[in-house]
Amino acid sequence: MNITVIGTGHVGLVTCATLAEIGHRVVGMDCDEDKISLLERGEAPFYEPGLTDLLRKHTGSGSLRFMVREADALSEATVVFVSVGTPPLANGEANLLAVEKAARSVASYGRDGVVVVEKSTVPAGTADRVALTLARERPALRFDVVSNPEFLREGSAVSDSLHPDRILIGSASKRAADVMRRVYRPLLRNGCRFIETDIATAELAKHACNAFLSLKISFANALANICERAGADVVSVADIMGADPRIGRAFLDAGLGFGGYCFPKDLAAFERVAARLGYDFSLLNEVARINEQAVESVVGKVRDALWNLEGKRVALLGLAFKPGTDDTRLSPALDLARRLLDEGALVVGYDPQAGASARAELPQLELAGDPYEAAWGAHCLVLCTEWEEFRALDLRALREVMLYPVIVDGRNVFDPETMRELGFTYYPTGRPAIIPRNRKRLGPGGGPNENGSLSPARRFSRVGVARA
Ligand code: UGA
Repeated sequence: MNITVIGTGHVGLVTCATLAEIGHRVVGMDCDEDKISLLERGEAPFYEPGLTDLLRKHTGSGSLRFMVREADALSEATVVFVSVGTPPLANGEANLLAVEKAARSVASYGRDGVVVVEKSTVPAGTADRVALTLARERPALRFDVVSNPEFLREGSAVSDSLHPDRILIGSASKRAADVMRRVYRPLLRNGCRFIETDIATAELAKHACNAFLSLKISFANALANICERAGADVVSVADIMGADPRIGRAFLDAGLGFGGYCFPKDLAAFERVAARLGYDFSLLNEVARINEQAVESVVGKVRDALWNLEGKRVALLGLAFKPGTDDTRLSPALDLARRLLDEGALVVGYDPQAGASARAELPQLELAGDPYEAAWGAHCLVLCTEWEEFRALDLRALREVMLYPVIVDGRNVFDPETMRELGFTYYPTGRPAIIPRNRKRLGPGGGPNENGSLSPARRFSRVGVARA
């Protein structure tokens, strides 16, 4: 089929590459000319495992092309995916200007019978707005609008798209649902569920999934606080909970909390959707508040270990919002770096992929070329992102280059017993700290913002350029 994808951000570009991989003729359209030239050469503008291979393969064969001109990109397409950015407004609501612009483009240049697919995460009711825009702009155009939310994760986006556990289609027309079944037919052979619903249900289900996963993480982080106070171990508590199939172990890892361009923004947007519909979904505010506290709790541990932070050198291992990506948008590691810098600490970070984007977002951050260089002369080291390579560190060598042997483990990567044997002062998350006998813990948390929470406006003012 001839398919055009409007918007070549993270979701859009992975959609382009994987639709080409399953046999379609795909055009990726974007207004950013520099990005389009890069893509035409088969290069990805961000790190995503497996993506460059697919781009090279399909731009090489001609089944995947990239264009700026709307007329060229849209006139042949049977199906148009809209995967433009929906960045947060200051009040947390999603900004849908780019979605409306995409609808206008389809109205101007789309062919008769086109199926317009909402791929961007949008509030319930958006498809109706898109349909109204199309009908007003070009009354003679026959079209269908469907909602097809994306469930891919950064870092495993290509594999998630080629081996999805479910494909969700919200539609008001049998014809459109059948077209979407044809689009995805090659993926339906491996037991993947094809779920058809009405449009509002599909739109809402996407927000519900992300909000619920965030809720699980914040539940684990709230538990971590209680475990630290009670001398219990949050990892074991999560394992015990996870053994119950009704609960499940996934997304119960306590730590620095969630970040990235999906959970924080979708949580706020979903709360706004509920508020507009007259429902006070304050549970979601609490999820966001606990998430902010997770970073503050790590600052509290660094203070507990070092007393005053002014002039102290703190090494951060991992700057991306999670392993497997170079994305630092709303990364808890950078939030932590800002708070430490605010208190006068010198912060040096290392990340296998995200160094450049971290530095672009936070120029005061010093970058190191490897973990040992980051740790060199540090008064304290904080493990922020659980990249695989950090599990294999030579901890003895690390201890030797550090000024004080203090580690705060924001992702529970290290084994507490090994830490004790090597003589580290060790602060894990939600597990008993290892503090030398002559030094007692001054208490968890603390600090200026312990009970304060950032308003969406402050939180999102830190987000860089939308990558959607
Ligand atoms: C998330 C969802 O998992 C995808 O299903 C969804 O399609 C995507 O958002 C989206 O809406 O586009 P992603 O943001 O790539 O995917 O990242 P996740 O793997 O879900 O992790 C999100 C954050 O939660 C990371 O900062 C991670 O470190 C944190 N996390 C995850 C925890 O702190 N604890 C956990 O147990 C799990």
